[in-house]
Amino acid sequence: MSDGKAARPRLRIFLWLAALVFLGLQFIRPALTNPPVTADLEAPPEVKQILRNSCYNCHSNETKLPWYDHIVPAYWLVVSDVTEARQHLNFSTIGAMPPERQRGVLFEAVNQIQIGAMPLPAYRFMHPRSAVTPEQLAILRAYLKSLKSATTVPQAAVAAAAQSAPNEPPFMRP
Ligand code: HEC
Repeated sequence: MSDGKAARPRLRIFLWLAALVFLGLQFIRPALTNPPVTADLEAPPEVKQILRNSCYNCHSNETKLPWYDHIVPAYWLVVSDVTEARQHLNFSTIGAMPPERQRGVLFEAVNQIQIGAMPLPAYRFMHPRSAVTPEQLAILRAYLKSLKSATTVPQAAVAAAAQSAPNEPPFMRP
């Protein structure tokens, strides 16, 4: 009996201390800034919408965190993910890359979705609506395919031109 009575105030003190520590930690906030969007990805709206919904929170300069991501320690995780993610792939600056390179990056991006690596599984668990559905994946794949055929057209034209003037390699012409 007397034991239980003695334990209760101690428990209460412990809980108050834990709450204070939790509140104190909230003030330890690494900065998360959104630098200007200089060369946003150019793609059809249905493609961009999918990437915006599933990837832009980490892979762009337009990070918008829901309120619960602002709570430490979740906030620390998200900030470190966003910082790292932007270094690997940033849709806000991708437009500055040569088209061929952009295509390669997009290819890798869709690949990462397909193998279930992106969005990061922990993030997907906490933000279920960020998951890419099979229908959305099909849209992305179709877009990649259209990019591929668009870049093979000039190649075909070059080959046709080479055929019409076999002695003159296409790259020698002005
Ligand atoms: C929670 C933040 C987060 C989200 C959301 C997210 N990523 Fe990532 N992404 C990362 C991090 C962190 C890395 C770097 C570490 C790694 O590869 O695991 C990364 C790496 C990548 C890479 C580079 C992989 C490599 O090996 O270089 C690609 C491509 C990528 N992500 C695509 C996407 C796509 C596409 C989406 C949306 C469907 C997406 N990511 C959503 C955090 C995220």
